[in-house]
Amino acid sequence: MQNIVEIGKGFYKLSSSEKDFHRNIYIRKFPIKKEGLGFLFQRFKKKNSINMIMDPGTKLDLPLLEDALKELIGGLKNIDIIFVSHQDPDVTSNVSPLLMRAKNSFLIGSIDAWRLIKMYGVPQGRFKAAESFVSSYFEIPGTTSKIYFVPATYCHFRGAMMVYDPETRILFSGDFMAGLNTMNKQSVYADESAWPGIALFHQIYMPSKKAIQRTIELIRMLTPKVEVIAPQHGYVIKGDLVDEFLERLYHLDVGVDIEDVNNAYTGRLVLALSEFLSKVKVYNIIVHTKLLKLLKESQSREFTQPIVFMGEEVSKINIGYEEAVEYIVSVIRRNFKKEANELLIILQDILVDLSLPIPPFLSNLLRKDLEENAFKGE
Ligand SMILES: [Fe+2]
Ligand SMILES: [Fe+2]
Repeated sequence: MQNIVEIGKGFYKLSSSEKDFHRNIYIRKFPIKKEGLGFLFQRFKKKNSINMIMDPGTKLDLPLLEDALKELIGGLKNIDIIFVSHQDPDVTSNVSPLLMRAKNSFLIGSIDAWRLIKMYGVPQGRFKAAESFVSSYFEIPGTTSKIYFVPATYCHFRGAMMVYDPETRILFSGDFMAGLNTMNKQSVYADESAWPGIALFHQIYMPSKKAIQRTIELIRMLTPKVEVIAPQHGYVIKGDLVDEFLERLYHLDVGVDIEDVNNAYTGRLVLALSEFLSKVKVYNIIVHTKLLKLLKESQSREFTQPIVFMGEEVSKINIGYEEAVEYIVSVIRRNFKKEANELLIILQDILVDLSLPIPPFLSNLLRKDLEENAFKGE
């Protein structure tokens, strides 16, 4: 099946088909040890693997799950463990149907998540709290494998929980390290261009830098070292980008840090962008109408808008200063090839007028354009 990607030995990823913001669902097959199975686990002798599904998605994903799990483990009925990172509907709305189809399966999540998930009518006897496992690890019955439960407290939910699989060195991180699809190409793995989507997601949905830093410190303490981060949205992160993106995220202002009234840059950027749009209107009314329309449409209609408008004026910015400037610049460069340079100069002049810093990527862009034009003029 095209949609199944093995991201580690026995660790598979499925994705829903949305272009801007999709769900990843992961399946891990833990091989059954055939020798020395204790009396309690004799029933596993007929199976090849204990199968865990992580964040099983929404009802929209059921057809995809049916097909993929038939291929991977012989059907939904062979799921043994359902792990949920938190209680959001994009994570948990399949819990009841899966528990019904896989009669011997059970659900693992945090106690805080359970308080809400049980509203689906899930019986208490089918649930195990991640916090109830001694030393926060769980030995997968009938196998030599174990998994660790790693709290991502307040990222973005009080009881958010991640799972670390030390054999594959994959950390399933739920919404932590998730992102919008800002990369131009369809890809399983993140590259540098995935960062703006990750930053945007965290700035809108994570409450504070402090919560993020605590979670990152826990990730850094895991042994063996994490090699792959597999989030519920966006791209799988591996290689040098694991440390690189964790370090960037560690220093990123998010949520209340951005809302903070002391964050004067963002407040002044609201004025600067309104001023910018009114200058664009004088410069070229057709460009203005198109640009305003593009900015008013959020990247996905289901996603909080990075920049909020009231009529033709910007009323609020939901992301950080540099990310907001980068967002505007990327919309301009993608959609106005001919006018882009002039629009960016107008934007830069307004930022300077309002004593706002020029982010390095903008000054580099304009310098590059200037050099190219000078070259052409020779
Ligand atoms: Fe969530
Ligand atoms: Fe999510």
